[in-house]
Amino acid sequence: AFQQRIFSGIQPSGGLTLGNYLGALKRFAEKQDEGIETVYCLVDMHAITVWQDPTGLRQQTREAAAAFIASGVDPKRSILFNQSQVSAHAELAWIFNCVARMGWMGRMTQWKDKTAGKNTENASLGLFAYPALMAADILAYKATHVPVGDDQKQHLELCRDIATKFNNDFGVDFFPITEPMIEGVATRVMSLRDGSKKMSKSDPSDQSRINLTDDGDMIAKKIKKAKTDAEPLPSELDGLADRPEARNLVNIYAALAGISAEQVLTDHGGAQFGSFKPALAELAVSVMSPITTEMNRLMQDPAEIDRILGDGALRANAIARPIVDEVYDIVGM
Ligand code: ADP
Ligand code: NA
Repeated sequence: AFQQRIFSGIQPSGGLTLGNYLGALKRFAEKQDEGIETVYCLVDMHAITVWQDPTGLRQQTREAAAAFIASGVDPKRSILFNQSQVSAHAELAWIFNCVARMGWMGRMTQWKDKTAGKNTENASLGLFAYPALMAADILAYKATHVPVGDDQKQHLELCRDIATKFNNDFGVDFFPITEPMIEGVATRVMSLRDGSKKMSKSDPSDQSRINLTDDGDMIAKKIKKAKTDAEPLPSELDGLADRPEARNLVNIYAALAGISAEQVLTDHGGAQFGSFKPALAELAVSVMSPITTEMNRLMQDPAEIDRILGDGALRANAIARPIVDEVYDIVGM
C-alpha cells in the first residue's frame, strides 16, 4: 500500500480565472483539512511549451503563488513550490518519455485541440510530450490522489498508463496507480460567452472569463453581460438539460455558495436572469474580492513570495529526490 499523498499543479501562464479557483484552488485549500499530505506546484516548465515572455513568466509565477495563498493554501501545511526549482520533475519526465508511446500522446484531446487547424510541424516537442512531464510531476511524489478539473481526466489516465507500464516493464510495484479527484459542481466552469467552451485564461475574449485580478465592478459587469437564454430558472435540475449557459451560472452560484445546484434552484427557481444575475454578481464579488485584495497585498512583497517558494522547493526535493534516485537504480543507471 502506498502512503496517501495529494499532488496538483497550475500553469503560471497568464492570469488565473474563476474556473481555476473553483475547479482547483478552492479545492486544494479544502484538501488540507483531510489529514493527507498536500503538494502543490506552479508548473512553469509546462507553461513554456508555448512561448512565454521571460519577464512575464517570472511575474505570473509569483502572481499564481499569491493566488494559491490568497485562496487558502497555507504554505506551512502544504508544500507550495515552483516546478523548475526541483530537478526531479525534468529527470523523471525523460525516463517517462522513454516509457510512454508516441501513439498515446497523439491521442490526447488537449494536444489535438491546441494544434487544431495548425501545422503541427511548428508545435514544440514539449507541447506533444507535456503529459509525460505531468505524469512525472505526480509520480515524483508517488502521489495517490490528484484533484483536478474535468479537462485533465485524460491526462490522469495517461499517468496511470505510464505508471502501469513502468511497473510492468521493470517487474516492480514501484509507482501507485494515481486516482483523479474530479468532484463537486465546478469541475468544468464554462465560458461566460459560450456555454460549449470551458472558461480559460487562454480564451482570446476577456469577457468570457472572470480573472482573479478583476475588481468587483468588473466581475458584476461580466456577469451582467454573460450569455443566457430568455427563460426563467427552472425549479429542478432536469430543466437545465439543454440550457448550458443557464446551467453554468447555476453551477457557479452553487460552487461559490458551497451548496448544491438543486439547492440553488430551490431558492431561485422561477427567477428571471434580470434578478438572478445581480444575486450571482453580489455573491461572486463577496467571495472573490477578499481573494483579490489578499493577492494584491502579497504581490507587494515579491521577495517574501520567492522565499516561500524556495522553502517549498526544499521540502518537495526532500520527497522527490530519493524517489527519482530509486527510479534510476531500477532502470539500471
Ligand atoms: P488553464 O486550463 O486555465 O490553462 P491549467 O491547465 O493550468 O489551467 O489548469 C489548472 C487547474 O485548473 C487544473 O486542475 C484544471 O483542471 C483546472 N481548471 C482549468 N480551467 C477550469 C475550468 N474552466 N473549470 C474547472 N476547472 C478548471
Ligand atoms: Na488546462
